[in-house]
Amino acid sequence: MDQRLAFICGMIRPGRGVIDVGTDHGYLPVRLACECYPGYIFASDLREGPLAAARRSAAQAGVSDRIQFLLSDGLDACLPDAVDTIVIAGMGGDTICGILDRAEWCMDPAYRLILQPMSKPEVLRYWLSNNGFCIEEERLVEDGDTIYQILAAGFTGQNEALSDAELWLGKRGLAEPELYQKLVLHEIRRIERRIVGLSTSASEDPQRQLAALQHRLFELQTMREN
Ligand SMILES: C[S@@+](CC[C@H](N)C(=O)[O-])C[C@H]1O[C@@H](n2cnc3c(N)ncnc32)[C@H](O)[C@@H]1O
Repeated sequence: MDQRLAFICGMIRPGRGVIDVGTDHGYLPVRLACECYPGYIFASDLREGPLAAARRSAAQAGVSDRIQFLLSDGLDACLPDAVDTIVIAGMGGDTICGILDRAEWCMDPAYRLILQPMSKPEVLRYWLSNNGFCIEEERLVEDGDTIYQILAAGFTGQNEALSDAELWLGKRGLAEPELYQKLVLHEIRRIERRIVGLSTSASEDPQRQLAALQHRLFELQTMREN
């Protein structure tokens, strides 16, 4: 299991039940079962192939009887009463939003969401902060050249306005300070490369895109200095 998934496992609190949406090889539910997580454990995936791999992982670890396997698009097959923790990791932020958007029942303080977007974290944070969720934890995990962003969120019914930089990187003060600084620097370098690319590309409305990127760059540089 990679550091990212091990870290997510560590964020799961003992409770009624946990579902891992998009489980693929089922590493996370298998680890929870091996660590004697006390509640129900659901491993779910949209496709039969990954679910079969998850069943094999569970069999190899001798924990098949502790895990329920669900062939499901997002949370469609999840029984709301059986879980209090929803994990969605390793997918794009927009895909995660689509899954949550279809499961209105999770808009309830009874659930804790642990989300790890592989891309478009800004789309996910925008969706959460405009749909009554509070981002309670922001955690960063470095593995090789990549810094993964992991969020824990709960429903409060209150919307929150996040700055542009906060949408992309999360609020400073919630995450590990050193890694957050590193993430800010990664993002500054990424935007600088995009600005250079934009000036040589024939994209539509480059001036508007350039202004947006420069605004974000300015916000990030200010964050870095303060
Ligand atoms: C890249 S893997 C991530 C596996 C694991 N969660 C991780 O973080 O390492 C993405 C998995 O999500 C599944 N998936 C994609 N869209 C899904 C959806 N709408 N509902 C359930 N599973 C989905 C894919 O079939 C695939 O197994």
